[in-house]
Amino acid sequence: MQIDLARTLYATPPTGVILISTLDDNQRNNIAPFAWWIVVSKEPPLIALSIKASTNTYRIIKATGEFTIGVPDPQLLDTVYGSAKLDREPDEFKKLGLTALPAVKVNSPRIKECQVNIECRYHNEIQCGDHMLVVGEAVAVDVREDIVHDDDSIMRANLTPLGHLTKNKFITMKGSILKASEDLTGKD
Ligand SMILES: Cc1cc2nc3c(=O)[nH]c(=O)nc-3n(C[C@H](O)[C@H](O)[C@H](O)COP(=O)(O)O)c2cc1C
Repeated sequence: MQIDLARTLYATPPTGVILISTLDDNQRNNIAPFAWWIVVSKEPPLIALSIKASTNTYRIIKATGEFTIGVPDPQLLDTVYGSAKLDREPDEFKKLGLTALPAVKVNSPRIKECQVNIECRYHNEIQCGDHMLVVGEAVAVDVREDIVHDDDSIMRANLTPLGHLTKNKFITMKGSILKASEDLTGKD
């Protein structure tokens, strides 16, 4: 059945929500949720984010060249959603009840309550319709102890991502591991 093109997004599978932490030149932190993002290169590790140019996140990334991606648990749902509504606050970590941890390679803090924190440096960007596709290079990655596993498939399965459906509706993304009959090792 054909649907209206304006609903294209809602015919695609939900993507995992992230929080982007940035620190501006006046040492004020900013946190906002984003759902349109994807890994686009393995070597070097590049992550592309689709961000509106009008956001503080975009302006700070452009000014500082740095940002940190946090992967929140579903328990942080109201915090995640609430972070989208914040006006520019003096300390957004405090306002959201989150804990800032110093990052290893960049100035934008890590979020202690997140399962994973990926520190990124700005790589390049492309204008895409009404959003900017901002590509960052991962320069340090921190994963919570209970998630780390020698087997990458299990490590990934240990994550409990929060998918965004629309507006204030989300979906949990935890499932069981399925194995295809053939192993095309090296062809991931
Ligand atoms: C779950 C969720 C996902 C979102 N995903 C995106 C996104 O991928 N790109 C975007 O530009 N805005 C997205 N937004 C909207 C931004 O979070 C919103 O514009 C926010 O106010 C930006 O904050 P900032 O100005 O502090 O950067 C999303 C909002 C929510 C609640």
